[in-house]
Amino acid sequence: MKHNIAVLLSGNGSNLQAIIDKNIDVSFVVSNNPKALGLKIAQNANIPSYSWKNVLELEEEVLKLIIEYDIKLLVLAGYMRLLSQNFVNSLPSKFIVNVHPSLLPNYKGMNAIKQAIDDCAEYTGVTIHYVDEGMDSGSIIKQDSIKINKNDTVETLKARLQTMEHRLYSDIIKSILIKN
Ligand code: GRF
Repeated sequence: MKHNIAVLLSGNGSNLQAIIDKNIDVSFVVSNNPKALGLKIAQNANIPSYSWKNVLELEEEVLKLIIEYDIKLLVLAGYMRLLSQNFVNSLPSKFIVNVHPSLLPNYKGMNAIKQAIDDCAEYTGVTIHYVDEGMDSGSIIKQDSIKINKNDTVETLKARLQTMEHRLYSDIIKSILIKN
């Protein structure tokens, strides 16, 4: 069964790579950062990719592309901008998903991994959630936790969290698409 998803990203695109590796069809990839490595991943996989630095222009174009490609789910994978209220309200509810490297509602926003370490938290984890117009505030779909080790740095913890993200995000995307 072919499902059309689109991916928005700003950076490395390791989650995009994991999604591609799990054989989920990605119709197009968009970035606000023309230098994002994730755009190269899309190109290598022959996925149409687009980039607009201006976020409002990007949103306008993405809304048009969603119709053109008959997109069923919009996947944020390291997209580092807040979506406008107008953009979110233009789409059905539960149409946009995001992955965040903390156990929300703890440590929203940027530097979530550093926030958890600085806070001497015993556990952190990964949250997959629907996206609303707030910052990391949409309803939670799934969370997985891991223990923070005493000698963890942002880098070591990030590596473990990303391994979790790559497995969890693809599984959730697949299960949402099967239900739709
Ligand atoms: C991930 O850690 C995700 O939790 C956060 O942004 C990061 C994106 O990583 N929202 P990548 O670009 O997929 O490697």
